[in-house]
Amino acid sequence: MALSFIPFDAPLGARVTGLDITRLGPDEAGQLYDAWLKYHVLVIHGPIVSEDQLVDFGACFGKIENARRRSSLASRPEIMVISNIRENGQTVGALPDGELTFHYDRIHQKVPNKAGVLHALEVPDAGGETLFADMCLAYETLPADTRKRLDGLTALNTYEYGQTHAENKKLAQDAPTAVHPVVRTVPETGRKALFVCRLMTDRILGLSETESRELLDSLCDHAEDERFVYAHRWQAGDILVWDNRCAMHARRDFDGSQRRLMKRVTVGESRAPQ
Ligand code: OGA
Ligand code: MN
Repeated sequence: MALSFIPFDAPLGARVTGLDITRLGPDEAGQLYDAWLKYHVLVIHGPIVSEDQLVDFGACFGKIENARRRSSLASRPEIMVISNIRENGQTVGALPDGELTFHYDRIHQKVPNKAGVLHALEVPDAGGETLFADMCLAYETLPADTRKRLDGLTALNTYEYGQTHAENKKLAQDAPTAVHPVVRTVPETGRKALFVCRLMTDRILGLSETESRELLDSLCDHAEDERFVYAHRWQAGDILVWDNRCAMHARRDFDGSQRRLMKRVTVGESRAPQ
């Protein structure tokens, strides 16, 4: 199958056409992988697919992990549900409501995810877009003296599951935390990416608290600028995969009275960021 990749009118992302998800072989997987390295975000418009098909699609990008928490709306253990739907007052999935600040999934762990796949089943009429920021571009457009200053720096990343904003962080005693380089290199391409985010990066090590806060704020302000961001407006059936090593993401607010239901597959990584 010859796939086509049509770049978005945006700093990152491309639409995939010509893909029959029920017939994914090694050839298609290779084409998808190469395009994912190039565009950081790929989107397929199509009908809603089965959990088996979603997991098979995710496996084109690496090893699939099990969801941290199982949901009554998912059959396979690899499927994580992101939804505001409530049954008997209880949420059926993670990250139910509203806006989410820019973050890298699991950057607070020693080995963060390699990639994420989201599949939209139900979407609100407006809002709830997922935003992706190209952190290679964000890095490359920093002033040369800032890039030099970042060389060799590391940062502490923390997160409490469910948290959507950086304010009032309340960390459990045993919450995992991780120190990662502020600039990492994507192994396959050799491109450097800024590896900090507003939601989870607390502190750049080796700087005073004031210097660290100022630098982090300026890096986040820079990277979240619209010239580096693609905003995905969801249609039911969309499948989107992003590179969680060099694209951070966020979500816009939406009307909580409307249902939003996504299924997610997480692609794991075998080594810590370098
Ligand atoms: C996630 C996430 C954003 C969204 O699944 O990790 O951040 O749009 N989701 O729901
Ligand atoms: Mn996320």
